[in-house]
Amino acid sequence: MAGQVAYVLGGGSHGPARPGEPLPMGNGRAIALRLAAEGATVVVGDIDLGRAQATVAAQAGPGLAVAVDAADAASCQAAVASALGSFGRLDIVVCNVGVSGREPIKAQSVAEWEYSEAVNLRSHWLTAQAALEPMLARSRGAFVFVGSTAGLLSSRRSLSYEATKAAQLAVMRHIAVRYAARGIRANAVVLGVIDSPLVRREFGEEGAPARAAVVPMGREGRPEEAAAAVAFLASDDAGYVTGQSLIVDGGVSASWPTPS
Ligand SMILES: NC(=O)c1ccc[n+]([C@@H]2O[C@H](COP(=O)([O-])OP(=O)(O)OC[C@H]3O[C@@H](n4cnc5c(N)ncnc54)[C@H](O)[C@@H]3O)[C@@H](O)[C@H]2O)c1
Repeated sequence: MAGQVAYVLGGGSHGPARPGEPLPMGNGRAIALRLAAEGATVVVGDIDLGRAQATVAAQAGPGLAVAVDAADAASCQAAVASALGSFGRLDIVVCNVGVSGREPIKAQSVAEWEYSEAVNLRSHWLTAQAALEPMLARSRGAFVFVGSTAGLLSSRRSLSYEATKAAQLAVMRHIAVRYAARGIRANAVVLGVIDSPLVRREFGEEGAPARAAVVPMGREGRPEEAAAAVAFLASDDAGYVTGQSLIVDGGVSASWPTPS
């Protein structure tokens, strides 16, 4: 990826770090670090500029931290403009930002639905829309959307999360098919349970053994494993791959629940 410029929306991280590690490692941060390790210049956008700066400081190569509120349409567009203004091009855009909801259908509030929709879905298509034109001008660009198995399978938990993650895959496919003949690729990684600060914040560190027990591999995934899948889809190694959802879930979605 030497010479390429990538933008990661939601590339900070916060919450409990893994034991012995100074920096909390979420998916967005791991993706930025991996793309930088592959040689890309990485622009990191986050609602908290300090978190974005911490990612850029940890990157192997050069980068830029930008403040962006994914819930704000103009802010999403301005962040892409800032990346383009600084480096003149974008080769890779990773739409990672996402918030999980808590409310099943009877409790689903309009406020939480609208916030989830704005952050998990609208920010992604707005970011892609803002990045598209200059990519089309160069007949080159790769989008990777960070999805969730909640967009394919219901956990009976958050309606807004499941619905926005399902719709996110439709946005990905729309871009992929519409611009396939013009050098643009779009794909998604669909993540199962990843040992991230987000999961530890939401579900508690003490729940890790129970989370791992339902996974055929017997463990949670690591943000670095999510990042490796993103890096593949963003790279020229995936040159003939577009419109696809790569499921990274340790086998959960391949399994039929049976009593052991
Ligand atoms: N961890 C898992 O098990 C898991 C599973 C499936 C999917 N995912 C997906 O992974 C993605 C996020 O993973 P992560 O580990 O990077 O999460 P994270 O909670 O660490 O979030 C990354 C960053 O997003 C930023 N952020 C939050 N709201 C924002 C906003 N409105 N605007 C801009 N930035 C904002 C936070 O400041 C944080 O630094 C989400 O799309 C999530 O749905 C995670």
